[in-house]
Amino acid sequence: MNQSAPPAILFKLMTDPGEASFLVDWLEKSTGQPVVEEIFDGRSLLSVSVGHMDGLKRALLAEGGRSLGATVLPEEVIGETDWDAFWKKQGFSLFRVNRWMHVVPEWEEVPEVEGPVLRLHPHLAFGTGLHETTGQCLSLLVDHRPIVKKRSSAILDFGSGTGILGIAGLMLGFGGRLFAVDDDPLAIDSTLANLRLNGLEKQSIVQSGFDGIAREFLEEGKRFGLICANVTGNVIVRFLPEWHGLLEPGGILVLSGISTRELDRVESLCPPPFSVFRRRRFHTIFLRKSAC
Ligand SMILES: C[S@@+](CC[C@H](N)C(=O)[O-])C[C@H]1O[C@@H](n2cnc3c(N)ncnc32)[C@H](O)[C@@H]1O
Repeated sequence: MNQSAPPAILFKLMTDPGEASFLVDWLEKSTGQPVVEEIFDGRSLLSVSVGHMDGLKRALLAEGGRSLGATVLPEEVIGETDWDAFWKKQGFSLFRVNRWMHVVPEWEEVPEVEGPVLRLHPHLAFGTGLHETTGQCLSLLVDHRPIVKKRSSAILDFGSGTGILGIAGLMLGFGGRLFAVDDDPLAIDSTLANLRLNGLEKQSIVQSGFDGIAREFLEEGKRFGLICANVTGNVIVRFLPEWHGLLEPGGILVLSGISTRELDRVESLCPPPFSVFRRRRFHTIFLRKSAC
């Protein structure tokens, strides 16, 4: 982790279990971070990392929580080592994606298996693979992996969080070079750490803004073979035309984090052919740019 990273702060809400699912959605959308739910004395305790938010934003979040009827508990500052326990509590342990790729937490032994093994420590970022949005993206990447690795193509992981999708893209052979973008410094730290953990840092660039990359690709006529963006419908609507323009013919766009309310708008901007995968809370779009 970068020495300058702000302290890890947990924002905690107590609510009735019947309200929890709505509040989890709201917290994940507001913070861009995964929420852990635990049951205590028949009530739901929701925890989320807000170390990346400034004091005013945290105060507004607390106000929002109170106005939605939840009890806001005092913030908890926690140390780096506690994060292993936090992720274990969330159920993050070794799992397989479509019986092919293994995702293994840094604190677990790497098994001797066929197929790629993606090692991961989330640190303070979103993206263990357990969330339905990340899980759906990983599954689509594994299902559509190229038969022959495309080393000359580039990959864009927009909203990289832990870097899990970009790292999977590299391991599955969608390209030989990764551009990872996230506007949260904690996510940048996490992506860099996970690239190093997987020995992929030399073929990757991680930064907070997309404009410079887009300009370079446009000016030099370069294109992406794969673009993943598990963000929100709003962000997708803003960038989709640009991303599509920067895809090579036959290139793949995987979009997730789209709520039901946002789905029509995002679909209306997608040039066919594309498929929509509907899930309980968020939906995913898989689009392959036509080859001509
Ligand atoms: C839901 S997480 C996804 C993380 C990971 N890619 C995954 O699939 O699990 C969304 C990430 O996008 C980042 N993000 C949201 N809006 C962004 C924007 N406009 N520019 C860059 N990053 C953004 C957030 O900071 C967060 O790390």
